[in-house]
Formats: sequence, C-alpha cells, structure tokens
Amino acid sequence: MYRIAVIPGDGTGPEVVQQGIKVLKKVEPAHSIRFDFKEFDFGGARYLSTGQTLSDDEVAEMRNFHAIYLGAIGHPDVKPGILERGILLKLRFDLDLYINLRPVKLYPNVETPLANKRPEDIDFTVVRENTEDLYIGAGGFFKKGTPDEVALQEMISTRKGVERCLRFAFDYTRRRNRKKTLTLCAKTNVLTFAHDLWDRAFREVAGDYPDIKTDYAHVDAITMWMVKNPEWFDVIVTTNMFGDIITDLGAMVQGGMGVAAGGNINPGGVSMFEPIGGSAPKYTGKNVINPIAAIAAAQMMLEFLGEGNAAKDVENAIVRAVGKMKSMSAGQMGYTTTEVGDLVADEIT
Ligand code: IPM
Ligand code: MN
Repeated sequence: MYRIAVIPGDGTGPEVVQQGIKVLKKVEPAHSIRFDFKEFDFGGARYLSTGQTLSDDEVAEMRNFHAIYLGAIGHPDVKPGILERGILLKLRFDLDLYINLRPVKLYPNVETPLANKRPEDIDFTVVRENTEDLYIGAGGFFKKGTPDEVALQEMISTRKGVERCLRFAFDYTRRRNRKKTLTLCAKTNVLTFAHDLWDRAFREVAGDYPDIKTDYAHVDAITMWMVKNPEWFDVIVTTNMFGDIITDLGAMVQGGMGVAAGGNINPGGVSMFEPIGGSAPKYTGKNVINPIAAIAAAQMMLEFLGEGNAAKDVENAIVRAVGKMKSMSAGQMGYTTTEVGDLVADEIT
C-alpha cells in the first residue's frame, strides 16, 4: 500500500492529474498494488482566498507519504514568484529534493521539430541539481527604486550539494546501462568559482566510477548539440538554473510540453513527480490539454516506488496511446484530455 499525496494545483494541473490517477487505478489490480491518494489544495486558488502558500506544518505532513504527485503551480492573477517560491520551490528545498530528473525521450510516432531524428536518436536524461545555485533566493536590493539601485542574486554551490548530485548522476548512468556516458554541462570558462568546484568534484567522483565515460559541454554549446546531435547524449548532469533552461529545450525536442515529465527526488525520503509543462491557463477547463506528461510522471513515480514492472507497463501503454494520437499539442490530439487518459488506461490489463 502506497500513500500518495496528490497536489492537483492550478490551471490544467487538476485535469491532467486526474488522468494519471485513472491510469494508476488500472495499475492497482493489474499489479496487486494499492494506492491511498490524499488530495491537498495547495495552489493559486487557495492563496487568493486565504493568503496562504504552504506552511511548515503542511510540508511536514508530506513526509508521511511514500510520494507526492503534483499537477502544476502557477496562477495568472498572482504576481510571479509568490507561488513558485512559496509552494513549488519550498517543497523542493524543505523536503531536500536535491535531484530533478528529467528524461528526454522521443516516443515512436511523436513528431519532433528536429529533422531526420528518430526515437533511437533522442533518448537521454538530464540530472538537474535541485536545491542550490541561483534558486536559493540569496541576495537583495540596495537603494531600490533609485537611480543608484543595486540588485544582487547569488549563485551558491556547496561541495556537499554538488557531490551528492554528481554521485546520483554517476549511479543513475550506471543503472541506466546504455552508453554509460555522463556529460557535465556547466560554464567553466566564465563561472570560474562555482563551476570550478563542479569541475573538480566531477573529476574526483569519476574516479569511483571507472566504468562510466565522462564528457563535458559548456551550457551554450550544449543547446546546439541537443538540437544537432541529440544521439550523443546518455546522461547530462548540470546545475539548477542551466538544468531549468536546457530541459525546456529537451521537452521541445521530445515532442513538447505535453510529453515531458520530471521527478524531484530525495533518494532517502519522499519524492515528488510532476509534468514539467506548468499550469497552461489558456487551456484550463477545456478538456484539451495533453495528459501524457502527467501520466509519464506517474510512471516515474512507480519506478521510484520500486514497482518497475508496473512502470514498464505504463510506459508501453503510453507508447501505444501516443501512436493513436494526431499530435502532442493541446487541442490537436484528435482526442480530449479524458479520452487520452482512457487510451492509456485501456492498454493496462
Ligand atoms: C520548472 C519550473 C520552475 C523552475 C518554476 C515554476 C519555479 O520552470 O520546474 O522547471 O524554474 O524550476
Ligand atoms: Mn522550468
């Protein structure tokens, strides 16, 4: 029995999470698993009515679950930063979800904007550090609003934070057992302090993984290679900010936001799984958004719960379902959101 905290959140979050749960309910009898879902109303709507983002007690309650399943956080009527920092980043930081794992995988029959690239060419995973870097919120203003204003936003890398991320990435590359190649993506030619630490730690940790080949790419160059030669990559490990940016590019390469899923992982604690596409306000409530990313997030959750066979089943079901869809884009799928959920759920027996 797995206790799952469900945070449907804002915008299209609830619609897509519902499809993921539909699929998980089909997984229950098929794999003799039981889920106990408990829903939480964290998000923009609650913030607008109560002024509350997420309390420390609520974060503490999340620790009682085996995993967290999240839809989306972000509301057009709330100033940028409040919900992101108050809910999403608070969960990542307070639960120490120090890895953001984002597979970039092109399923068969899904259209990629990259000419002449096939599913076998686009299959890599980005390991994004998830608790440090420019995201920590260190900094401030001096003489704000005056012509002499100074704004500081600090990029922090700690040896411990970097090393645990690198070790996860090396272990993951080994477990994945494909090209056995880990590429560090950084900017050592400019960020000569923070990324010097990354570079040194990478070389040192690599010594413990003689079976894993290592490679390096500057972040600007990697955006070029991801488009030109995605088949070069197996696992990419990178910083929080760069990981944020290159995984949106990755999402496009794998067919769009409708397909891209991620896991916020604490290997020793409770982890959180989400479609990475956001709340998509303009599609909200229309039953047109693509729920495949949310279903793929549920698949990642199964994998991390140790239910590898169930995860494989869901992935196969996704592959068969996307084979029937006209497009991965909202409103152009040839099916509604709920119908796509049914397509996947019907494939699980
Ligand atoms: C993501 C998102 C978040 C991030 C935002 C919403 C804070 O873009 O999960 O990639 O920057 O990490
Ligand atoms: Mn992002």
